[in-house]
Amino acid sequence: MARTIAKLSAQKLWKVFGPRPQSVLRSDWRDKSRAEVQEATGHVIALRDVSFDVAQGEVFVVMGLSGSGKSTLVRCLLRLIEPSEGQVVVDGQDITKYSRRKLMNFRRKKAGMVFQRFALMPHRTVMDNVAWGLEIQGQSRRTRLERTHEMLRVVGLEGWAQNYPHELSGGMQQRVGLARALAADPEMLLMDEPFSALDPMIRREMQDELIRLQERMKKTIVFITHDLDEALKLGDRIAIMRDGAIIQVGTPEDIVSAPFDEYVGEFTKDVRKVEVLPVRFIMKPPKTRVYDWQGPRVALREMRQEEEDVAFVVDKEERFLGILAREAAARAAEGGDATSVAQLLETAPIAFSADDSLQWMLARVMDYNWRLETIPVVDAEGKLVGEVHRTVIRDLAKDALEVRVGVQARRSTTV
Ligand SMILES: Nc1ncnc2c1ncn2[C@@H]1O[C@H](COP(=O)(O)OP(=O)(O)O)[C@@H](O)[C@H]1O
Ligand SMILES: [Mg+2]
Repeated sequence: MARTIAKLSAQKLWKVFGPRPQSVLRSDWRDKSRAEVQEATGHVIALRDVSFDVAQGEVFVVMGLSGSGKSTLVRCLLRLIEPSEGQVVVDGQDITKYSRRKLMNFRRKKAGMVFQRFALMPHRTVMDNVAWGLEIQGQSRRTRLERTHEMLRVVGLEGWAQNYPHELSGGMQQRVGLARALAADPEMLLMDEPFSALDPMIRREMQDELIRLQERMKKTIVFITHDLDEALKLGDRIAIMRDGAIIQVGTPEDIVSAPFDEYVGEFTKDVRKVEVLPVRFIMKPPKTRVYDWQGPRVALREMRQEEEDVAFVVDKEERFLGILAREAAARAAEGGDATSVAQLLETAPIAFSADDSLQWMLARVMDYNWRLETIPVVDAEGKLVGEVHRTVIRDLAKDALEVRVGVQARRSTTV
């Protein structure tokens, strides 16, 4: 597979805050922990050897607890803070080598930034706030007007153009911030905890909005958050930061199913597994599988051996055809009138796809009032690839319920 060139790439970035960063970087302190360095020298290692690539159109989420270095990182990507060491490469160009002038140009054309605390200008109308980036770009008044109105429509704020920021709710203000970042049509969006100050409801709305916009715009996005649910919802990939270093990078599924250590585990333990993981994650290899040309006696023997009441019937391509009940096989074996199990399939071939979410599976199991002990799982071609036992589903449903109740309990104490 051809490797795509990164849109944005951080290469061995370091940032040390303090009077003499190089004295730390050019000594043994470099390899000491952040706490040790701070204690002994007063310097803070805010970024430690951070490297990653973000592909064109990708949403790359950076997650970490407060103080882990997220804001420093996202600012270093635009050189709003100068990195102490390392490179930032955008479209193959090392921007750490850019002159001031080139850098300003780069920021205007390529990057939009959205901050947590809206950062709107209070004395300017909504319209003039959104038009700000276009003014800096030197766009004509007409272009500014058109573009601004279009952006306000995109974020659902038409009609508010002449209002001032303080007349808007937090969610609306953040929409203005988003419209402002989008107005100049940047190729990259850098978003530093843009939704963290919003109520949970509004926050989810804004997340949905961003997903919807991104489907159309396909920007390259670096999105900072300290919230795992948000990271799992928005990220194509997630990088986890601790003490200035990236300790794990992966897809949302990687992060939840194989947390790198307790720090990541701490984030993930609360996640509703059922909402993010696919059936594949809990299935086991199918136990009793018989081929459609085999006879009832062979099938019966198979089921007895495995102590199962049903067998999954497949064709020679391993495609799932249906379920054979043990009684049906037993009756046919006695009567001797069926020559192959294909004639004995009682149930319609209902199966789950390995890529279905656990949530979807749970809902369907409840809908169908499924009475089988074990449920077949197929791949995209309909081949039998696994099974999920009823007890596993029951435990899953219980977990899901407990988490729900837990979440509600927590909510009701905070409201
Ligand atoms: N200008 C600064 N001077 C000194 N220390 C700083 C400065 N900015 C940030 N820090 C320190 O760097 C670390 C990372 O901060 P920050 O990037 O803001 O983390 P986050 O955004 O993940 O909360 C923190 O320990 C913070 O106190
Ligand atoms: Mg921050």
